[in-house]
Amino acid sequence: MEKKVIELLNQQITKEFYSAYLYLEFSNFYYDMELNGFGNYFKVQAQEERDHAMLFLQYLQNNGQRPVLETIDKPAVIPENARMALEEALKHEKYVTSLIYEIYDAAYSSKDFRTMQFLDWFVKEQGEEESSADSLLKKFILFGDDPKSLYMLDNELAARVYTAPSLVL
Ligand code: FEO
Repeated sequence: MEKKVIELLNQQITKEFYSAYLYLEFSNFYYDMELNGFGNYFKVQAQEERDHAMLFLQYLQNNGQRPVLETIDKPAVIPENARMALEEALKHEKYVTSLIYEIYDAAYSSKDFRTMQFLDWFVKEQGEEESSADSLLKKFILFGDDPKSLYMLDNELAARVYTAPSLVL
């Protein structure tokens, strides 16, 4: 593997753990508001992000590289209202997609087909993550101002359960 690809894969471990941290912050914010379904949704999201970090770590190890753990920053966004966290989550997922594309680009440039294949799962996953973040924001815009609808949406989100990632390395 090329040095640049290794560096980017390693950085992604920290970025994914940071995503977990950010979503845990959002989760805490919603639980504090008694929007426990939203809190649950973001807690599950944080678990998924932790899994993403571990997949990058495992991939490096599988390829004979020692992962280097870096500092995980404090969440840069503290939500001020229920809508803001959803907007920030969508923004953040778009940013993560750009990071995945950057690694893909480096792998492509060095004909690192194995890393490209590994990243294919993340390319698809990012499509799904952006789509669910976008859908949740749209639902909130539609229903968030009506207490009864918000209550139902919160209940819907309370049903989200964690499942392990479909990618096994
Ligand atoms: Fe790990 Fe939400 O991307």
